[in-house]
Amino acid sequence: MNNYKKDFTILRNNPELTYLDSTASSLTPDSVVEKINEYYKNYRANIARGVYKTSEQATEEYEKTRQKVANFINAAEKEIVFTSGTTMSLNMIAYGLSNLVGENNNIVTTAMEHHANFIPWQQLAKNKEAEFRVTNIDKQGRLDLNDLKNKVDKNTKILTFTYVSNVLGTINPVKEIIQEVKKINPEIITVVDAAQASPHLKLDVKNLDCDFLAFSGHKMLGPTGVGVLYGKIEKLKLLKPIFTGGEMISEVTCQASTFAELPHRLEAGTPNIAGAIAFKESLKYLKKVGFENIQKHEQKLVKYTFEKMKNEFGDDVKIFGPEKVEEHSGSISFTFKKYHPHDIAAILDQEKNVCIRVGMHCAMPLHREFLNVHATARLSVYLYNDKNDIDKFIEGLKRIEEILG
Ligand code: ALA
Repeated sequence: MNNYKKDFTILRNNPELTYLDSTASSLTPDSVVEKINEYYKNYRANIARGVYKTSEQATEEYEKTRQKVANFINAAEKEIVFTSGTTMSLNMIAYGLSNLVGENNNIVTTAMEHHANFIPWQQLAKNKEAEFRVTNIDKQGRLDLNDLKNKVDKNTKILTFTYVSNVLGTINPVKEIIQEVKKINPEIITVVDAAQASPHLKLDVKNLDCDFLAFSGHKMLGPTGVGVLYGKIEKLKLLKPIFTGGEMISEVTCQASTFAELPHRLEAGTPNIAGAIAFKESLKYLKKVGFENIQKHEQKLVKYTFEKMKNEFGDDVKIFGPEKVEEHSGSISFTFKKYHPHDIAAILDQEKNVCIRVGMHCAMPLHREFLNVHATARLSVYLYNDKNDIDKFIEGLKRIEEILG
């Protein structure tokens, strides 16, 4: 793997910084930042409205990203809706499908969901008096596929689940799950939270055969505030728009309104234009590096981290998630017997300038009801990290032992 640190000003200017929190948000290479500037400096205008050149240029750049995203995940352009991120996408899907859910239905999800793919469905089930079913995980934090199959039945309206867990690092067998649940209920609507998959794995929605899929730009080297809601075209048509207003309409009269064609029907108001325009630069960057290389590199780092932690700290440390590196994405959550996760993160930052995340990582049911812990510490690796970063992290952990005893 090349040294990608050179492409990131933040890392070039701060050689002491060890960034191990890409699961929360990735860093952004200079090519993406330059593209944001290009828009603000050269063709700053609203899109899809102006009949003048700068507006036309901005619109073209914006739509080029839609094309790029569609190619990136093997979808059609009209199946790509821009949102502010995965949270917005998932809320739009849950609200948009709400008319289809009744009291005889159930919605199935899993124990390893981020709140963004948990609360919207829990709320929907509650409002419709439908049943909300949560699939269990095994001791290594993998989905219990038998439990999942038992939870899905003919009354299951929606199955919604994450591709990769932001806490456990577990990579779920999405294609196989969708095939299996469709055998039980061919009418089931499947929703995939790909926020933690899109930065690390090649996505192909046709191959996965999911009905909806959501992800964010900021976790895959892109700007914050831009995300994607993908839906098969016939499924997108089922979505009732959550937002109404400018640019999403066909006709508006004092009596009634009709809505535009997809995807514009689901994109009311002025979007994050600069973010969407620059997002395609991050997709270009990822394509150039190649997902095979990214995955190989991350697996090497995960293996190295597992070994180092076990060798240095033995049974004092507990690592969550699958033991096999092939089943484990770049997020590694852990606890120490003696130290509180918040102390670990604070000392790593103060002593070694190492950034990790602690807490429940927006997954409270997982922590409290399945892992039985109040918090975990989490480091996460991405394409710009290397073994030196892990060594520094380990040195930081040793410093904690010296400081706290
Ligand atoms: N979902 C992000 C994380 O897990 C914010 O840190």
